[in-house]
Amino acid sequence: MHLLSASCVCALFVAALLRQANSLETVIGLYGETVEIPCNNAAINAEDILITKWKYDKGEGLPGDLLVKQKNQNVSISATDEYKGRVSMAANSSLLLSAAKLTDQRTFTCMVVAGADISEYPVNVLIYKTAAGLEISDKAEDLEIGKLTKLGKCVAKDSNPAANITWRKNNTPLANGKGISIQASVLVDPVTGLSTTSSVLEYSAEKEDTDAEFSCSTRHAVGSELVSSPATFTITYSTETIVLQVTAQDPLVEGDNVSLKCLADGNPAPTAYNFHLKGELVKVENTDTYTITNVSRDSTGEYKCSLVDDPTMEASKNITVSYLDIKLSHSGTDVKKTAGQALNLTLQIDASAGVKVSWTKDNVKLNKEPTFTKLTYADSGRYECEVTMGLLSQKDFFELAVEGVPVIRRLSKKRGADHGHKVLICEVEGSPKPAVSWSINGTSLDETPFVNGKITHKITVVPTANLSVSCSVSNEFGADSRTINVSSINGEVRMDKQGPSDDNDQTKLVVGVVVGLLVATIVIGLAYWVYMKKSKQGSWKTGENEDGSSEEEKKLEEKVEENSQKAEV
Ligand SMILES: *[C@@H]1O[C@H](CO)[C@@H](O)[C@H](O)[C@H]1NC(C)=O
Ligand SMILES: *[C@@H]1O[C@H](CO)[C@@H](O)[C@H](O)[C@H]1NC(C)=O
Ligand SMILES: *[C@@H]1O[C@H](CO)[C@@H](O)[C@H](O)[C@H]1NC(C)=O
Ligand SMILES: *[C@@H]1O[C@H](CO)[C@@H](O)[C@H](O)[C@H]1NC(C)=O
Ligand SMILES: *[C@@H]1O[C@H](CO)[C@@H](O)[C@H](O)[C@H]1NC(C)=O
Ligand SMILES: *[C@@H]1O[C@H](CO)[C@@H](O)[C@H](O)[C@H]1NC(C)=O
Ligand SMILES: *[C@@H]1O[C@H](CO)[C@@H](O)[C@H](O)[C@H]1NC(C)=O
Repeated sequence: MHLLSASCVCALFVAALLRQANSLETVIGLYGETVEIPCNNAAINAEDILITKWKYDKGEGLPGDLLVKQKNQNVSISATDEYKGRVSMAANSSLLLSAAKLTDQRTFTCMVVAGADISEYPVNVLIYKTAAGLEISDKAEDLEIGKLTKLGKCVAKDSNPAANITWRKNNTPLANGKGISIQASVLVDPVTGLSTTSSVLEYSAEKEDTDAEFSCSTRHAVGSELVSSPATFTITYSTETIVLQVTAQDPLVEGDNVSLKCLADGNPAPTAYNFHLKGELVKVENTDTYTITNVSRDSTGEYKCSLVDDPTMEASKNITVSYLDIKLSHSGTDVKKTAGQALNLTLQIDASAGVKVSWTKDNVKLNKEPTFTKLTYADSGRYECEVTMGLLSQKDFFELAVEGVPVIRRLSKKRGADHGHKVLICEVEGSPKPAVSWSINGTSLDETPFVNGKITHKITVVPTANLSVSCSVSNEFGADSRTINVSSINGEVRMDKQGPSDDNDQTKLVVGVVVGLLVATIVIGLAYWVYMKKSKQGSWKTGENEDGSSEEEKKLEEKVEENSQKAEV
């Protein structure tokens, strides 16, 4: 070229400039690799090329020679500097530059002489390098909700140009904004010129970030996207709500165990809690549970739990221990009492809530609690009480046996159906079951079942003469006996109206007392008159008392009184 005239050089220079301006090509080479820098001479027939020369721009307009190839000669390397040993030329005139470095980023120019034409093809060379890898370092141990925390640092090492790092949460890119701060910095290696990009993410976590995957990525002009391995973080937050959970049987009764569990929603969960057991403070560590064993009625009350480091976080529950105790004043199978006596029956109930009491006698429901001011044989039986309180219930019972001296209530006679014989009836009251015997041998008809202390015994006799017959009864408490006159069959007329009218008069008498003394006197007088009349009617033919007389009633009354006096002793 230096052989060419100045004017010619000048003209060529202008032409070259024009071409440069039109077609400054850019070639991107990879760091450390061989870069092929093409000589854009496709338009020129290779046969016509006389000289191909590669040079580069040293800066400040100074050119640096690299190599020259003259037609039919070998390539001559003219480089003396850093390019010595790194450059060669391909058959198609491309410059091959090995072990590319960042300092190779400059303009290389291919100059071709073909015939009288001299052409220059400058090529701009860029050397790229992708980062070696992406890694998140300086990871936060945990992220506290609502607090801007350095989550980590993502480093893209040794790249050119400098990498652009993008942070992602669950693959969605993050940008600076509310609760997100990304600070990137680039460090250039003074020797290699490669850039190391660091990006620090400060992040204000939310509760939902618990399982979120954070990663960083970079997409280089060459090569595929680089993505760091994902990182997850423990999201920590202080307790906002606290709940006391009570696990207990329903109903909770004495002797049961109750488990208290304190649930705080903080993360990490508190490791220690205070349990307030009706005022008593118990601190538990490394557990959130406290068990109360063998509760009693005194355990009823308010229970609380709270955080050790924040006593204002507190939860409470009321625990009620149900109890139902009953005590029956008389209980068991052997409650024996004497007829006529009083029985003071009491049922003590100690319960934690309202109760329902029900009674049965001999499996028949009673409408109210039984009371016994004056025991009768009919009061005998099995009494059961059941006290219920919600799901709890208690039962007790007693078997009452009313005992006493047997008393003949009534000794009566009846004409038999065929007029040939008579039926004698002995009605007895007493318990245990009295033995009944007659003073004569008759045909025993029947004996009623022994119910409510009563028994009725019947015999049939055929009296051939006027007889005095007695009925005798006895049990371990005593005996009774009564006699009845039975006339011979001839001429007897049966009249049996005395009893009922007598009862009638008694009723009137009672009414009379209530109404007033005067009225009573009149009624008594009337009753006496009626009595006399009836009495005459009843005995005018036989002269016998067919039924138990009023004298007999008196006797019975005396006996009962006697019994009750015995019992009181
Ligand atoms: C030039 O030759 C090299 C190998 O010799 C080849 O890789 C390259 O593609 C060629 N370039 C052009 C522009 O033909
Ligand atoms: C439960 O407590 C009662 C007194 O409250 C006690 O008599 C009983 O022995 C205790 N039972 C157990 C298993 O500890
Ligand atoms: C427990 O009972 C007390 C008094 O009976 C009451 O003031 C309190 O509110 C109750 N607590 C809970 C948690 O029900
Ligand atoms: C029966 O109860 C009454 C009152 O309830 C009492 O005055 C009396 O002493 C009691 N009698 C007996 C024998 O307990
Ligand atoms: C009843 O009969 C028995 C024998 O059957 C006899 O020994 C007894 O004397 C008789 N009693 C009367 C009162 O007739
Ligand atoms: C039996 O008694 C009645 C009166 O009660 C009397 O009229 C009759 O004569 C008596 N009979 C004998 C056999 O004694
Ligand atoms: C039964 O008869 C006797 C005499 O035989 C007499 O003394 C007695 O009073 C009579 N008893 C009755 C209850 O009528």
